[in-house]
Amino acid sequence: MLSSSFIWYTIIVVAVLSFLHGSTKKKKLPPGPRGVPILGHLHMIGKNPHQDLHRIAQKHGPIMYVQFGFVPHIIVSSPQAAEQFLKTYDLVFAGRPPHQASKYLSWDQRNIVFGTYGPYWRNMRKLCTLELLSSIKISSFQPMRREELGLLVEWLKHAALECVSVDLSAKVSSLTAEMSCRMVFGKKYEDKDIDERGFKVVIQEAIKLSAMPNLGDYFPFLGVLDLQGLTKRMKALSKVFDNFFEKVIDDHVRDGDQGRTKDIVDTMMSIMQSRDTEFQFDRRHVKAIMLDMLAASMDTAASTVEWILSELLKNPQVMKKVQKELEEVVSLDRMVEESDLESLEYLDMVVKETFRLHPVAPLLIPHYSLEDCTVDGYHIPKDARIIVNTFALGRDPNAWTDPEKFNPERFVGSSIDLRGQHFQLLPFGSGRRGCPGMQLGLIMVRFIVAQLVHCFDWKLPNNMLPSELDMTEEFGIVVARAEHLMAVPTYRLQKYST
Ligand code: HEM
Repeated sequence: MLSSSFIWYTIIVVAVLSFLHGSTKKKKLPPGPRGVPILGHLHMIGKNPHQDLHRIAQKHGPIMYVQFGFVPHIIVSSPQAAEQFLKTYDLVFAGRPPHQASKYLSWDQRNIVFGTYGPYWRNMRKLCTLELLSSIKISSFQPMRREELGLLVEWLKHAALECVSVDLSAKVSSLTAEMSCRMVFGKKYEDKDIDERGFKVVIQEAIKLSAMPNLGDYFPFLGVLDLQGLTKRMKALSKVFDNFFEKVIDDHVRDGDQGRTKDIVDTMMSIMQSRDTEFQFDRRHVKAIMLDMLAASMDTAASTVEWILSELLKNPQVMKKVQKELEEVVSLDRMVEESDLESLEYLDMVVKETFRLHPVAPLLIPHYSLEDCTVDGYHIPKDARIIVNTFALGRDPNAWTDPEKFNPERFVGSSIDLRGQHFQLLPFGSGRRGCPGMQLGLIMVRFIVAQLVHCFDWKLPNNMLPSELDMTEEFGIVVARAEHLMAVPTYRLQKYST
């Protein structure tokens, strides 16, 4: 028998909760589609969430409210709305949501990508921009980038002699992986040093697990049950990374930098040993940043190059124009050098146009509201996930004429750049959480594309017409081509040596 005081207590609690719930209900949330019990709007999202959310937002508006499971999400789909969230109220939305992957794959959020907003994250980010990704540091890796790209060109020259089609997606992805490894570790490790699956596969597994819809994130009480087995996979993966990164640190401690270019681990080790940070900085921090640098640079740059080359193969007249510019700036007597890049204005437009149509991180990384806020008259509750859909921004008909058309010439005489001040084009995000590796990413992307297009003519295999090239996307934190890009190279420089 329940006591009457317990019944009264329950009635009062329910009344207070209903009152509180009612008072938040009165606040005007952004519009959104009608959801279903428990799932909310999860059932409306398919294989390509950025495309689904773009379609749904066209009906409900640029600031849209949806609920995935029990978790409120605000979907931002116009340049004006993006400016409000990433500039006007940047500080309120600079958080990152708690999420299962960040728990297991970032040494308890000691990294930057998933780090909760606060003094620790601010210090780590400052260290990253000032010490690890500064212009001086980026230039110090220039000979290494040149050498790695040179090796790929040599390999492609052999393929060109045999007139065979090459898997450009796989080749470019290996190239950016090697560049990133040498930049972070100072050398290439063998695949077996990390795990029998190999280095690239293990990093890609981490990126994939971070992006996979995890029931534990949408229904927190289900987290412990790990119904999809994702937590188990993440725990196993974090052990693999931990063992490997410990070995890398040990190698650095044993060998010192021996007068060679200081890699990112060297730089972090000096910071750790100097004990001169305002915050605790030990091996766990070095490991977390190592994974950040690798995961953030490898696939983003590779997928961007893949999409640019795809658009060039699909639009042969644009490819010709890029090659003509290269002939004028570089000449057919030599290969491209990084110092040529700033003179390649048309290439720059091609890069922007590709980012507009194929932002490789179309939903950025989820932001998180640190407090209640009102944006455009709508109540944005504390603890909501903020998803900025840059795929939608690049296709906004109020910002772009003929948005579906690939037309680099639209940037002639335009001041729009990629640095996060033009909200219709945000492939690197904007504001406090904007990408700190943009400068490096852009150098890698421009240099690889310029070299491949300057040294080789490319055609699609099996007499495929440009219009037949499949451009289907495969969603992840980084969106890649669903089908690998295959093409046949013909060497076009006058000299046959590099
Ligand atoms: C083409 C190449 C790249 C693209 C398209 C790209 C894009 C992005 C995007 C969209 C974000 C999320 C921004 C947000 O949530 O608002 C991001 C964050 C980040 N990127 Fe990049 N990125 C690239 C290359 C790099 C490189 C080379 C590095 C470093 C080696 C890097 C390091 C980071 C880090 C550490 C963050 C997290 C920032 C934070 O949460 O404070 N990225 N990037």
